[in-house]
Amino acid sequence: MSTAPEVTVAPATGRLGILTPGMGAVSTTFMAGVLAVRKGLAKPFGSLTQMGTIRLGKRTDGRVPTINEFVDLAQLPDIAFGGWDIFEDDAYEAALNAGALKKEDLDNVKDELEQIKPMKAVFSKDYVKKLDGTWVKTGGTKWDYAQAVMEDIKNFQAENNVDRVVVVWCGSTEIFLTPGDVHANLAAFEEGLKNDDPGIAPSMIYCYAALKMGVPFANGAPNLTCDFPAMYELAKETQTPICGKDFKTGQTLMKTILAPGFKARLLGVSGWFSTNILGNRDGAVLDDPESFKTKEESKLGVLDQILQPDLYPDLYGDIYHKVRINYYPPRGDNKEGWDNIDIFGWLGYPMQIKVDFLCRDSILAAPIVLDLALFMDLAKRSSFSGLQDWLSFYFKSPTVAPELYPEHDIFIQQMKLKNTLRYIMGEDQITHLGADYYDYYR
Ligand SMILES: NC(=O)c1ccc[n+]([C@@H]2O[C@H](COP(=O)([O-])OP(=O)(O)OC[C@H]3O[C@@H](n4cnc5c(N)ncnc54)[C@H](O)[C@@H]3O)[C@@H](O)[C@H]2O)c1
Repeated sequence: MSTAPEVTVAPATGRLGILTPGMGAVSTTFMAGVLAVRKGLAKPFGSLTQMGTIRLGKRTDGRVPTINEFVDLAQLPDIAFGGWDIFEDDAYEAALNAGALKKEDLDNVKDELEQIKPMKAVFSKDYVKKLDGTWVKTGGTKWDYAQAVMEDIKNFQAENNVDRVVVVWCGSTEIFLTPGDVHANLAAFEEGLKNDDPGIAPSMIYCYAALKMGVPFANGAPNLTCDFPAMYELAKETQTPICGKDFKTGQTLMKTILAPGFKARLLGVSGWFSTNILGNRDGAVLDDPESFKTKEESKLGVLDQILQPDLYPDLYGDIYHKVRINYYPPRGDNKEGWDNIDIFGWLGYPMQIKVDFLCRDSILAAPIVLDLALFMDLAKRSSFSGLQDWLSFYFKSPTVAPELYPEHDIFIQQMKLKNTLRYIMGEDQITHLGADYYDYYR
């Protein structure tokens, strides 16, 4: 049974601009994929907004619309693409270089991709040691660059006739930074922009510019970017949704699928060793210890939260968890991730599980970019602002309110996401209690 909607959702009329700082493997795979789907050349596999369904009401009601029918989302033909990069290559050239998609697939959408030319980046090698680009804004303070990004967004909107914009960070992983005084509140942060404070990384400048304009911002990398009080304050002030961080793909996706299962069956875990080889630009950036540290922090938290060693000390109190990423150029974007999992069961008898995931990172990440952009636009039209915990489903290291722990279990995350959609539309939450169908109590 549905009730009156809790939330008023402004209609998704007109065009939606999706801007990505960073037009590398993930971003161009996302763009090429949406363009191919739009032409009827491919199906949007992996995208919840395009292929997912949602059950409404009782199991006996038979109401299972697609998510796209259930909530008012921007439609693929209404999307315009744009972005920034430190290299001048258009999206076609960048996609060819990235090597995530085959040339023949890219050639089907070549004309459209060639039209997508990056705007000049806000960049400093101090924050991504392994990259050097020429297509960058120069000669200003961090404050000036923030104004310039706002100008870029306005120009993009005017040139592409778009009504709404969403920004999804698809740029490289920056060095590990921790929040300091400059991140503590908005006034300090704005002061820091004017004084070129070293605590302010380029990704933060894009995020500040977007939020200042009321443009939703999602962070696909593990960078600090929007994960501190000054940004939360700005997001509230301008009523803008933010979310992050680090797209959940590959090995961490597998971890958050497997670990909840072990815990559900009370199987102990004594060790989980994860190693990866990858050879794309992301791999080269992660070869730098400072960028790797940012990634490592993001990857390590997952098991601790899911397995709850404090609640289950006998099962998970002594777990040895290690994550390695090795840059290995021959593999390109086709990563291989190995997991060796040492588990134990009844009477403590040990067992081993080996996972060898021959994975394609950008193929897993591209539909996440699409879903995040569409859901962040929905959030904005629903007058949601600040951290969007319900989108934790898409992240390795979900950003949550300071007093909360992040939820990593993918099945809980999925329920949270779908229940948020039900809440927006005034539908009953689904608890899976099942008491409606049986006479348990009589
Ligand atoms: N592929 C995945 O599965 C996955 C999963 C989680 C997170 N990520 C993160 O997503 C990001 C993108 O991954 P990718 O595989 O596309 O990497 P990539 O190296 O192919 O692309 C990143 C692009 O960002 C550009 N860039 C760097 N700094 C910039 C700046 N300040 N402004 C504008 N552009 C900038 C680089 O020139 C590059 O073209 C990385 O941070 C990566 O860690 C990827």
